[in-house]
Amino acid sequence: MNYSTWMLAFSLLISCWATNLSAYDFTPSGATTLAPNKAQESSILSEPILPIPLHVEVDQGKVALGLRLFEDKGLSSDGSMACRSCHLFNKGGGDGEVLSPSIDGGERATNTPTIFNVGLYSLYGWLGMSNTLEGLSEAIIKSKKGLANDWPAIIPYLQGDSNYVRQFSASYPDGINVNNVKDAMAEYMRSLITPNSRFDRYLRGEEMVLTKEEFGGYQLFKSYGCASCHQGELLGGNMFASNNLFREFFIEEGQSVKMDVGRYKKTKDENDRYVFRVPSLRNIALTAPYFHDGSVESLEDAVDLMGIYMLGRKIPEAHQALIVKFLNTLTGEFKGEPL
Ligand code: HEC
Ligand code: HEC
Repeated sequence: MNYSTWMLAFSLLISCWATNLSAYDFTPSGATTLAPNKAQESSILSEPILPIPLHVEVDQGKVALGLRLFEDKGLSSDGSMACRSCHLFNKGGGDGEVLSPSIDGGERATNTPTIFNVGLYSLYGWLGMSNTLEGLSEAIIKSKKGLANDWPAIIPYLQGDSNYVRQFSASYPDGINVNNVKDAMAEYMRSLITPNSRFDRYLRGEEMVLTKEEFGGYQLFKSYGCASCHQGELLGGNMFASNNLFREFFIEEGQSVKMDVGRYKKTKDENDRYVFRVPSLRNIALTAPYFHDGSVESLEDAVDLMGIYMLGRKIPEAHQALIVKFLNTLTGEFKGEPL
């Protein structure tokens, strides 16, 4: 959808949802079921949010190779950083910093987004400038704020390591080359799903898994219109939105990083000024601080600002607290263990 079509769809959605706030209550509404596509998914509730699949099909050899590449500092220009340096499992898949560190020690660019569930996005990066994992990884490898390296240095480095040579030829008939490096890294990242959050268990029809307040928070999330942008399996990651919808976000909050201008930074199209990819809200309780500039510490404040700038209304504190309770149910499991 282009931006203007999106704006139209958005205003229609808001006018439907925002008028219906007093109607929310804490009892589950008459849930209907979707047409079953897989036996195990057959009882998923019909909601704007879908559960993360319980399993993904990945090639374990490529995943092991991708993991090794992801953790290898030898892929960075000065040997100081690996992909893992900024995407840590004990920090919700990000780094817990306000802004991501820069390899050259220079100006920091943006907050580091989570690496969990990235196989399920259709747009990558805060500006949604790539729509494949392979494309995004290449951009980060080459970026001065990423690994600051390039293929003419990386490929000979890998060819000089007999373990890499063996691992690549076991998974790829043509061995080590640029496409296979990107493919193995992407396969590893696709394996990083976090299914089975309490909210997903609710969506799969499990009873009594949410408290009354958490359920109430979800009803508010829908009735305020949050789900018009934060929807699908990841509650985001699949559309663009402007931070400037109802008020002048960056004029009022102050400009902090170069990316504040949104997609305009890359496209130089005025329609893209202040336009960002809607981020996922999966595991959001673990990935503070929030927003592309890491400017917000608490989920309560993030919800408050979303109300003001995206929905044009002040959300009362009691409602903010319930919405946060709902957001806390979105923390999933990684390899069967709670995150
Ligand atoms: C210096 C810290 C740092 C390192 C090292 C790093 N990343 Fe990231 N990563 C970031 C930041 C910051 C972003 C957001 C970039 C943007 O939107 O412009 C990001 C975004 C991503 C995304 C997109 C997530 C989303 O929400 O769309 C993926 C996937 C990713 N990185 C994978 C990798 C891979 C693969 C490597 C190694 C090649 C890597 N990262 C190395 C900081 C880092
Ligand atoms: C018009 C689309 C839209 C609506 C409606 C919307 N959001 Fe957002 N949301 C975004 C965008 C875009 C961002 C990223 C903003 C940024 O980083 O500058 C975001 C960011 C967030 C974040 C921080 C995510 C992170 O990883 O840093 C949270 C939490 C959030 N939204 C919750 C909500 C809640 C709760 C509501 C309803 C009260 C809501 N949003 C309504 C588009 C929307």
